[in-house]
Amino acid sequence: MSSMVTILGIETTAHTFGAAIVQDKKILSNEKDAYTTEDGQGGMIPIEVRKHHEVVAPKIYALALESAGITEDKIDAIAFSNSPGLAPSLLAGMAFVKELSAKLKIPVVPVNHCVAHLEIGDTVGAKDPVMLYASGANTQIIAYEAGKYRVFGETLDLGVGNFIDTFARFAGLGFPGGPKIQKLAEESKNKEELIELPYSIKGMDVAFSGIQTKLRNLLDKGEDLGRLSYSMQETVFAMLVEASERALAHTGKKELVLGGGVACNSRLQEMCKIMCSERGVKYFCPERPLLVDNAAMIAYLGQKMFEAGISTDHKHLDMVDINPRERTDDVEVTWR
Ligand code: ATP
Ligand code: FE2
Repeated sequence: MSSMVTILGIETTAHTFGAAIVQDKKILSNEKDAYTTEDGQGGMIPIEVRKHHEVVAPKIYALALESAGITEDKIDAIAFSNSPGLAPSLLAGMAFVKELSAKLKIPVVPVNHCVAHLEIGDTVGAKDPVMLYASGANTQIIAYEAGKYRVFGETLDLGVGNFIDTFARFAGLGFPGGPKIQKLAEESKNKEELIELPYSIKGMDVAFSGIQTKLRNLLDKGEDLGRLSYSMQETVFAMLVEASERALAHTGKKELVLGGGVACNSRLQEMCKIMCSERGVKYFCPERPLLVDNAAMIAYLGQKMFEAGISTDHKHLDMVDINPRERTDDVEVTWR
């Protein structure tokens, strides 16, 4: 092994197949290809997602090496997201990783996807943050405490991104709905007229189904979509910010970091910034390629785990498996 540590990261928990190279904690490349449906409806047929990942894997892997300017013999270990996620997607990733591990005779490092979202905050300066993880399938407020990443609050029904996408689809906007709803909200001429929606937060947990029902009823009655989009964002993001603020107060931590695709939303970012400055808390938000599902965060956490001795030799690949339902607080954090 050279003195530099080079890690290949592979991400396949959901729509995205990603491959990235991280060397001594520096991101050298971060490539991806996401499964989409032709009609833009975003529904996921498991067999097809698996097929997608199998088809694009060699190409995206080659691209990651090329962009990083390295050859595969330089890779010391392969980190891959083995949890949590959709089983067919995870299986496609694991099959690719095991084959490569056997071929290159290098170890693998199984990584929890949610924890990786949090740890990539490191690259923008967050050292011990509370994370608001707002993506398609996940909405959680996570922070480190006593050897584990604890979930302080989470959605009791849908992930916030899936909630927004479902509403957008109902309104005929196609998939993904988040960016379109954001634009409609920004352009809305009715900002002074916030429509009251069922604000639903219990402790640090949130729920969206009541809001969904109300939004659909109003849309059916002919309410303006811009005004609805604006009111939806104000209400839902206020819930997320309030839950995050409570987690900050509860843990006494002094940093907030954002993660997940919904964190790309500029209004959510703005509301988080305001809350942080009012509380005297530092605000951190990685760039979009590191917010959405990506392999760089897997390689980045993979490097930390690998250096802490957490890896499985290529001779024992039968001990490596996917864990579709692993919870954030199931992970023993021994690398910190
Ligand atoms: P995960 O497995 O982490 O849940 P995912 O594939 O569902 O991942 P991401 O790639 O993190 O999710 O993000 C996709 C989601 O982000 C979609 O629901 C999309 O609508 C939402 N999104 C993207 N940009 C915006 C935006 N500007 N405003 C609101 N939502 C957005
Ligand atoms: Fe994610």
